[in-house]
Amino acid sequence: MEIDRRTALAGTLAVGAALIFDIPAHATEFNLGKATAIKIGAAKIFSVGQSRVLIYRSSSQKFLGYTAVCPVDKNPLALTGVSGSRITCSKDRIAFSLSTGKATTRTATLASVKVRLQNGFVLATLAGTASIAPTQAASPSMTKEIIEASKVPNSTAVKVNTSVGTLMISQVQRGTYVALSAICTHAGCEVSDANATTLACGCHGAVFAKADGSVIEGPAKTPLKRYDLVEREGFLYFS
Ligand code: FES
Repeated sequence: MEIDRRTALAGTLAVGAALIFDIPAHATEFNLGKATAIKIGAAKIFSVGQSRVLIYRSSSQKFLGYTAVCPVDKNPLALTGVSGSRITCSKDRIAFSLSTGKATTRTATLASVKVRLQNGFVLATLAGTASIAPTQAASPSMTKEIIEASKVPNSTAVKVNTSVGTLMISQVQRGTYVALSAICTHAGCEVSDANATTLACGCHGAVFAKADGSVIEGPAKTPLKRYDLVEREGFLYFS
């Protein structure tokens, strides 16, 4: 499973064997897009699966990554809280340095995310996301947008034709997007939106969960293939 993901990444970015063996077994490296999309001295927040990652590009051109969650009250951090090289949690008003991750007024530190540049792209290694990242047999383009995020409502799956086939894209939580193959694993019919949480196949009645593609009702026995997405500047991409 992990090797397929890394192979897909390597194929698209022409990354060598070192990348494949550098990634810890429990972690996955995600492409967050072009480094130039983050201005010097500015930050961006990316949604990767169910994780939110803040990337800060310092004035000395270092790319630093943090989990975009306040470590004190566990609330999400937002770009509106960024001022210069600091980010302030909107709830408890604790400010953190984006250069060190440390809180300026108490003992607390943002969880750091390993970041590196490869061929001009920002790659972030996220632990614990492998479980939401099933096998990707194809090598989808990570640089071509799939759809504008605002076109995916939070209750209805949207069908999109992509380089890896027809996908059903759902917003399963606010800001969290899931892409599932539209091809039913029973006998290959196309599934369609059924309700807020499920997709259904009209051929023989299989029902799948939008959240992860798992089978809710047979005759299908295998989950729909899932593809991880990342949101960048209002568009969804394969990660
Ligand atoms: S092809 Fe989908 S249930 Fe049979």
